Amino acid sequence: MKATVSLIKADVGGYPGHSSVHPALLETARKKLENAKKQKLLIDFHVLAAGDDLQLLMSHSKGENSSEIHSLAWDTFKAATEVAKELKLYGAGQDLLSDAFSGNIRGMGPGIAELEFTERKAEPLVAFMMDKTEPGAFNLPMYRIFADPFNTAGLVIDPSLHSGFRFEVWDIMEHRRVFMNAPEETYDMLALIGAKSRYVIKRVFPKEGQKLPSNEPVAVVSTEKLYQIAGEYVGKDDPVAIVRAQSGLPALGEVLEPFALPYLVSGWMRGSHNGPLMPVSFRDARCTRFDGPPRCVAAGFQLSNGRLIGPVDLFDDPAYDETRRKAQEIAEYMRRHGPFEPHRLPLEDMEYTTLPKVMEKLKSRFEKVE
Ligand code: F6R
Ligand code: MG
Ligand code: MG
Repeated sequence: MKATVSLIKADVGGYPGHSSVHPALLETARKKLENAKKQKLLIDFHVLAAGDDLQLLMSHSKGENSSEIHSLAWDTFKAATEVAKELKLYGAGQDLLSDAFSGNIRGMGPGIAELEFTERKAEPLVAFMMDKTEPGAFNLPMYRIFADPFNTAGLVIDPSLHSGFRFEVWDIMEHRRVFMNAPEETYDMLALIGAKSRYVIKRVFPKEGQKLPSNEPVAVVSTEKLYQIAGEYVGKDDPVAIVRAQSGLPALGEVLEPFALPYLVSGWMRGSHNGPLMPVSFRDARCTRFDGPPRCVAAGFQLSNGRLIGPVDLFDDPAYDETRRKAQEIAEYMRRHGPFEPHRLPLEDMEYTTLPKVMEKLKSRFEKVE
């Protein structure tokens, strides 16, 4: 059977500030999706939260880009926005960029990660949800999961993974994409995806001749950039991803392994700072210190005829305590730099800037130097 798993998220109001999602929004979303499940539009669903983002994880048989599923997500975010307005939550409806919804939620503000695939005898999958960072924050872990033998032992010792994977890389500035093979084109691919504010891994596919069909993606990342959609900065583009695991794919532990390093991502305070990505449990997915540090939660499931059996709160584990401790140390170190790069992002990557105003003020005082 072919199943589709859609993870669609939006910030429709924070509580307090940009730190977390109010329980009333989760409740509103659950009611909406429960209704859709009763009407057989959804097979199953879970409503989750990461920082200030409301996360709708839905399974169904409608395929990717289904207008019915996208309308459901849109209506759910609209309903949650009404509650957010009534509670005067912070930035109520901030990610819903238009009232003219026309059947596809792409480009409308919310972030989307959808996978349609043939469900295997046993189908483990992980939904990753990050807050206070951008889609390129998934480049490093996706590369390590599917292409780095120092992370994924299976690439070396499991014959069913040994030939590697195919990556779909998007240039989000020019709205174009390129397919690249690992390990053959690893160095070329790294030249692109190391520039994570521009080139982002969108999907990963098995190669021809592998155990799984080569046209069905095994991982997908949301790549919406809100400021490009709206032409100016209007909100966050905190990304989500879905990754399938085991039997011809990286094992669950190989999928989680890259997160043992609190690597640097951009986002954090005012979307304008570099900081460590901290893997946390669901209950710790609240952005506090300096509106962060950027966080990632991982919800684990087994799919059973489209039912989402779970979630397991995968980072709720002492095995990640040391990572979190190191993340605090890095956060402290980065914070000491205050307004200086590379804690603060370079000018072109900042989401807020007073520079044009400062320059205007100083215009007449700048003098030529030899
Ligand atoms: C970052 C984020 C927050 C806000 C900050 C200022 O992703 O959402 O750090 O940028 O709290 O918010 P405003 O401008 O709404 O007061
Ligand atoms: Mg917010
Ligand atoms: Mg957010």
